[in-house]
Amino acid sequence: MKKILAIVGSVRKDSFNKQLALAAQKILADKAELEILDYTDVPFFNQDLEHPAPAAVTRVRKLVKEADGLWIFTPEYNHYFSGVLKNLIDWLSRPVSATEPQVLAGKKIALSGITPGISGTGIAQDHLVAALSFLNADIMNVPRLTIPNAMQQVQDGKLVLTTSAPYLEKQAEAFVKYLG
Ligand SMILES: Cc1cc2nc3c(=O)[nH]c(=O)nc-3n(C[C@H](O)[C@H](O)[C@H](O)COP(=O)(O)O)c2cc1C
Repeated sequence: MKKILAIVGSVRKDSFNKQLALAAQKILADKAELEILDYTDVPFFNQDLEHPAPAAVTRVRKLVKEADGLWIFTPEYNHYFSGVLKNLIDWLSRPVSATEPQVLAGKKIALSGITPGISGTGIAQDHLVAALSFLNADIMNVPRLTIPNAMQQVQDGKLVLTTSAPYLEKQAEAFVKYLG
């Protein structure tokens, strides 16, 4: 089974994006393994800390390297993706060592996101495409999933996908195919 590493750009406990990642995990079930990356221990990027890399950075780089693909679930903060996600990408963008390149080049990536407002994270995802393209990642541009008006699919504080479920299923199916 292909291994997908989900990166959620929100560290909020009840994050809708995390709940979306969990919904994707359920949909994938026996088609692919999806693990959600915990990167809360990764420090603020600082070039002074690069060598030797902090243990948390070495750990996430290894997980990214081992994954067949990354599925990023991004919130939108001020028409951008979140600072915690940018911090993680900055760490991942750096060569591992003098002989080992950065781990995002050629990595297959799917993009999704959900917001309570009308944006649906489209603008944040466009910024992600720019950053990840610069890093030579292999982005699945079609389909991307943008879910606005999250509260219409929330019951008792929990995300219960109704209208968006078929779109998440289609994206999951497309990403498994994209992984080959
Ligand atoms: C600092 C900040 C900036 C935000 N900016 C936007 C925005 O530009 N567009 C938008 O649709 N929602 C914006 N929101 C609302 C988020 O979409 C909302 O908080 C969402 O639930 C965050 O994702 P999460 O549920 O995965 O934590 C912002 C929220 C915060 C805290």
